[in-house]
Amino acid sequence: MVGKQGRQWRSMCKGLVLGTLLTSCMVLLYFLSAPQSHFNLPEGPVPYSCSHRPAQAHTRLIKNSSHHAPGQTGICTPKVDIMFMKTHKTASSTLLNILFRFGEKHRLKFAFPNSRNDFFYPYPFQRSQVKDYRPGMCFNIICNHMRFNAPEVAKVLPTDTSYITILRDPAELFESSFHYFGRLVPVTWKIPGEDKVGEFLRDPRHYFDPNGFNSFYLKNLLFFDFGQDNTLELGDPQVEEGIRAIAGRFQLVMLVEHFDESLMLLKDALCWEMDDLLFFKLNARKGSTVSKLTPELRAKALEWNAVDWRLYQHFNVTFWRKVEAYGRQRMADDVAELQRRNAVMADICIEGGHAVDAGSIQETAMQPWQPIGEKSIMGYNLKNNVDKAHRKLCLKMLTPELQYLTELGVNLWITKLWGHVRDVINW
Ligand SMILES: *[C@@H]1O[C@H](CO)[C@@H](O)[C@H](O)[C@H]1NC(C)=O
Ligand SMILES: *[C@@H]1O[C@H](CO)[C@@H](O)[C@H](O)[C@H]1NC(C)=O
Repeated sequence: MVGKQGRQWRSMCKGLVLGTLLTSCMVLLYFLSAPQSHFNLPEGPVPYSCSHRPAQAHTRLIKNSSHHAPGQTGICTPKVDIMFMKTHKTASSTLLNILFRFGEKHRLKFAFPNSRNDFFYPYPFQRSQVKDYRPGMCFNIICNHMRFNAPEVAKVLPTDTSYITILRDPAELFESSFHYFGRLVPVTWKIPGEDKVGEFLRDPRHYFDPNGFNSFYLKNLLFFDFGQDNTLELGDPQVEEGIRAIAGRFQLVMLVEHFDESLMLLKDALCWEMDDLLFFKLNARKGSTVSKLTPELRAKALEWNAVDWRLYQHFNVTFWRKVEAYGRQRMADDVAELQRRNAVMADICIEGGHAVDAGSIQETAMQPWQPIGEKSIMGYNLKNNVDKAHRKLCLKMLTPELQYLTELGVNLWITKLWGHVRDVINW
């Protein structure tokens, strides 16, 4: 009994000390690295479009086949100016990989963050955070994590930019965020027991502190990512205003639960080709295909994240309306075609044909970033004998986000330093 309590105490103390240490490190790093984001940058007009690619301005003839919904005949040009609002824990790493490959293919200019892999999240986006930014400069794609800030974003992208984003069922998102970020939120440290998510949801108000460090990870994280107030009550008019603002800004809001269908809507919205959409699921958590919430906890999670639930339901309606317009049968056919092509690629590229635990990934270049204290994110091994024609594409499709960012020229010293600190203290 005494031994057990002693152990509990020791592990709690260890947690507290490590947590405090790491939090201080992060705060320190933030101040060391924060750009001078509060000085006033002169206003510069953003060009209407930054495309300067006559060779790539190939147009896609949409074939007049029975597969196409009415109004789908004609010619379109692939859209290359894209704002992808990368929400947290929403399969967005997979989408980033798709965007990176598309950007490389068309030699597009990415607005990347500097020194780390996000735009100083959770601080609202400022264009001064963009790597090599100068007023009047034009970028094609912005897609790293940020807290959305529409007026500042508009100042780095052309006016005809397509704004897209992705949402996820808020109960699942909450559980995932709790798992992934929980240890960065001090209010979770005092939650007793093994099942911290369950314990928290049984009485969230008892544990939650709206002003607590990093507490936004545990309540209406989606709404927060869009730059809104995540602590609003459902009846507050600001909730509907926020949703209206998002609906007015984003042409396409995808849903994680219908990822393949979402990609087809993306293809349609941006006039892309099926080949642009090939993907392997990146950054997936072990056993993530089954919900970890009981129906009771799910109901509580939705109640606790009521604003996100409202947001999700709103865009669920617009999503299915778009699917309807796309054509149900055409959608089913296209999704089947994409799945077939992805399976072919998996067969060509992936050793064993599927994702494996972190411990079984042979090359560090293929190791995904892990949540603190866990190795639950899975990754892949590239087959040894991939033929030359596919090798490059295979590599790109399998490269985890941070490694790909580095390849694209982003210096991630803060993110990497944080990784080393964690390695040293084995957390
Ligand atoms: C498209 O096909 C339909 C019949 O399949 C035909 O009636 C129509 O004229 C075609 N439209 C064009 C633009 O070729
Ligand atoms: C989303 O919309 C579909 C189609 O209208 C409906 O069947 C489904 O229950 C909705 N889901 C949510 C979570 O609202």
